[in-house]
Amino acid sequence: MKALSIATLLLCSSAAMAHYTLDYPPTRGLNEDNEPIAPCGGFATVGQRSQFPLSKGFVTINSGHVKAEIKINVAYGNNPSEADFTAAASTPASSSSVNHPGSSCLPLDLSSFKGAADNTNATIQIVYNGGDSPLYQCADVILVNSAPSFDQSKCVNDDGKTPSTTNPGANPSNTPSAGAVLSVKNAFTAAAAMAMAAALAF
Ligand SMILES: *[C@@H]1O[C@H](CO)[C@@H](O)[C@H](O)[C@H]1NC(C)=O
Repeated sequence: MKALSIATLLLCSSAAMAHYTLDYPPTRGLNEDNEPIAPCGGFATVGQRSQFPLSKGFVTINSGHVKAEIKINVAYGNNPSEADFTAAASTPASSSSVNHPGSSCLPLDLSSFKGAADNTNATIQIVYNGGDSPLYQCADVILVNSAPSFDQSKCVNDDGKTPSTTNPGANPSNTPSAGAVLSVKNAFTAAAAMAMAAALAF
């Protein structure tokens, strides 16, 4: 009886979580009920733009499914139409899969992606397929060579590994794995925390 109720609980919570969030760059908007609505999860109006670097960018999502396929499309312009997103989807900027729930940092290097140039307004569309219907999220950005406000610390992988990603825009020879960057950062943070604890002890 107890086992049954726990199983029921797990089922219910996984159903409630079977969507995903776009955690970075900032989403145009999230309404879980409307996530299946293309092209931007029910948000038709362009939101606040954030800077997105042309090289070594990434997108961080939080997945409710254990497994999901993710395609990332880039539509250019100040207010891309549904047709613009449809056209962009014929050449995704990235295709990847995640094999664990929670946070995944998906590399998105646009430095050699068609149409991507410095100071270009664009909308990044994330199409997430966890086995039911595709779910949509968008981020309105300005693509720039130098993006000081792009927060590298938002690249988070809950399994500690970088998801398998095919990124036609990326140059594999000069793209360090996000995991490597992350572990260096974690080591640094740990060292800083120890130094602080030592300082406090006196
Ligand atoms: C890009 O979008 C912003 C508003 O989000 C707008 O102010 C700016 O003029 C646009 N840039 C171009 C080149 O149209």
